[in-house]
Amino acid sequence: MTGVPPFAVISGAQVQRALQGREKQVVELVEATYRLHGSGDSVNPPSYFLRFPDRPTARIIALPASIGGAIRVDGLKWISSFPENVSAGIPRASAVLILNDHDTGYPFACLESSIISATRTAASAALGADRLTRGRARPARVGFVGTGLIARYIHTFLTSTGWTFDEVGVHDLSAGSAAGFRGHLERSGVAGRVTVHDTAEQLIRSSDLVVFATVAGAPYVHDVSWFAHNPVVLHVSLRDLAPEILLASANVVDDVEHCLKADTSPHLVEQRTGNRDFLDGTLDDVMSGRVHVPADKPVVFSPFGLGVLDLAVGKYVYDEVTRSGELQVVDGFFHDLSRHG
Ligand SMILES: NC(=O)c1ccc[n+]([C@@H]2O[C@H](COP(=O)([O-])OP(=O)(O)OC[C@H]3O[C@@H](n4cnc5c(N)ncnc54)[C@H](O)[C@@H]3O)[C@@H](O)[C@H]2O)c1
Repeated sequence: MTGVPPFAVISGAQVQRALQGREKQVVELVEATYRLHGSGDSVNPPSYFLRFPDRPTARIIALPASIGGAIRVDGLKWISSFPENVSAGIPRASAVLILNDHDTGYPFACLESSIISATRTAASAALGADRLTRGRARPARVGFVGTGLIARYIHTFLTSTGWTFDEVGVHDLSAGSAAGFRGHLERSGVAGRVTVHDTAEQLIRSSDLVVFATVAGAPYVHDVSWFAHNPVVLHVSLRDLAPEILLASANVVDDVEHCLKADTSPHLVEQRTGNRDFLDGTLDDVMSGRVHVPADKPVVFSPFGLGVLDLAVGKYVYDEVTRSGELQVVDGFFHDLSRHG
């Protein structure tokens, strides 16, 4: 694109239409993006966390990134997490994604991005579940610790990419969240037997694939014996597991530098041990065969969440909306374009 591009605004409804029913394509896109990132064809600086002394549970994170390959776009996700929203009846997270033109730097789209963010997170989890269970019996018992919006997206992505479960375990500190998620699972018609567990221990012990999607700020799972059956753990909320759990497991991350920050569980292990020896590698290492996943230990996948994934899914949405003829351009958004007037 040369010259000033038109500027478009893409609503959540448009994003949802572009992504619904495309779970397999999105997982393939996320896989391709991890491979591009692994090969160095990306720029993905550390996320910037804006926090507030007067609202200690809240944060807004900036994720700037640039991705090459056929996607070739730059941009920024700006995502708020206000956990108290949930009790007021609105989602915890809200976000926009800005896409910038590769050649001119001009921003050319602003997309509603809570759906894009949940989608790339769930696609990454489903990809991890597939790749990290290949050397063992495919899990038929899944358990969700923390049953909010992200848990719902992950369940949808698992079942839309070929997973079937005999049993789905559910555990949440909020009985209302657990009941709401159980209702969603039963309405989905693809859930198998649903059991609400009173404790994380019960849920972990009875699941071969465990998903953590809580808002815990510090580890509350310490007992290594809960993992004696060697489950695969999708540690999406990043701060649930105490260092001793990770030290007894194989550990896979999305990006080493990103994940060893912000007091994630892997970061706590590095602080405790003073080294990174506990890390086996990245999901890209696993997909490329550079790292072998053992079947005789628990496996913990801790995906920090990379801006390049938001860009890839966001550009996919932009292209779909453009193709459908429904792109809403803000006429004259860029103005005063003659340098000397
Ligand atoms: N790694 C990534 O790329 C990535 C991306 C998006 C979201 N996330 C994380 O996913 C998590 C879930 O997001 P969400 O939008 O579903 O949040 P949400 O607020 O909708 O749901 C979180 C649920 O966790 C429950 N919970 C909190 N502490 C718990 C505990 N100790 N045990 C059991 N349940 C507990 C809450 O009651 C709530 O129902 C957040 O931590 C978010 O940061 C990670």
